[in-house]
Amino acid sequence: MSGPIVVESVAALRAQIGDWRRAGLKIAMVPTMGALHDGHISLVRIALEKAERCVVSVFVNPTQFAPTEDLDKYPRQLARDLDQLREAGVHLAFTPGVAEMYPAGFATKISVGGPSSGLETDFRPAFFDGVATVVAKLFLQAAPDCAVFGEKDYQQLCVVRQLCRDLDLPVEIVGAPTVRDSHGLAMSSRNAYLGAAELEIARKFNVVLRQTAAELASGADQARAVNAAAEALVSAGFRKVDYVAAREAAALAPWRRDRDGRLLAAAWLGTTRLIDNVEIPAAPPAL
Ligand code: PAJ
Repeated sequence: MSGPIVVESVAALRAQIGDWRRAGLKIAMVPTMGALHDGHISLVRIALEKAERCVVSVFVNPTQFAPTEDLDKYPRQLARDLDQLREAGVHLAFTPGVAEMYPAGFATKISVGGPSSGLETDFRPAFFDGVATVVAKLFLQAAPDCAVFGEKDYQQLCVVRQLCRDLDLPVEIVGAPTVRDSHGLAMSSRNAYLGAAELEIARKFNVVLRQTAAELASGADQARAVNAAAEALVSAGFRKVDYVAAREAAALAPWRRDRDGRLLAAAWLGTTRLIDNVEIPAAPPAL
């Protein structure tokens, strides 16, 4: 199969999308920052099931990186990404430069409340403003019928749903399960930063979270269980734990046992920050 159409400008994107719309084709979008792996490709597969045309954006969005973060060293490998998108059957890759997305004089910021409070925001205060602003722009540029986001970034998925609800953006948001390696480590572009020894430690992240979620589901004290999880991560070799927190699954409010929950965590291995999350099943109603 021939590769995706590659466009760098909003005008070219709109022209192609316009043609597809006039032909009555449904369009699904998968926003990414590139350095694609099987997690991203799983989103593409879902997008291709939902619509006749799949658009993938590849844009390392500077506004979601703090000055101290890894914007400059974030892996960029567009040629490889395009090979993977071709193999997956993607129809269009939107690969704008920074000046196309944020021309000189750009001065707007979208700030979502609700699910963006706490967790990542406590440690990366400007992160979700950057994500919400770029996702809103992508949705207005491509006008997709639906868009697929990974549960890997669970808080981001909740923030994007809130964004669409609040701004009446007519885009159906589809959540996709986290793709993991055979040891349970969630695939991430940032795993490329890990050395062999760190990779071994990283694989304990999900083990600790799953065990803690099971304890919470069977009635363990919440504060004690999340503290024990943080200690277990440090004992396993993580340098620092930003948070381990149990939240209600839909709106990320504090979790109560009779609700579906999510256990979310962020922790540092050397200079690499990893995030992961797992489901906490609701307790059966008391008899
Ligand atoms: P990025 O980290 O490239 O992720 C793009 C999409 O892939 C996100 O929806 C993310 O949740 C999903 N993803 C990443 N790893 C995954 C895995 N192991 N399994 C399933 N899905 C996975 O998230 C971003 O980019 C950016 O913040 C973006 C939304 C593109 C805005 O700039």
